[in-house]
Amino acid sequence: MSEPIIEAKQNGPYLVQGPLKLIDPSGKETVIDRPWVALCRCGQSNNKPFCDGAHSRVGFKADAGKFYKPA
Ligand code: FES
Repeated sequence: MSEPIIEAKQNGPYLVQGPLKLIDPSGKETVIDRPWVALCRCGQSNNKPFCDGAHSRVGFKADAGKFYKPA
């Protein structure tokens, strides 16, 4: 199994390398067979947990001090 990769975009979503499995609070599993998935970080998406571009519309500014990108 390869190492998971999650990339925080500047004032945007988390890009998660797929394929991956999402599990909702009820335990329902959804397999996403795509090379990358954008997960909402701003809380404004109408398609959570996925990013729908709302971060741009609302002017989301990420707190850079709370995320550390590995070297
Ligand atoms: S990060 Fe894109 S809609 Fe929230």
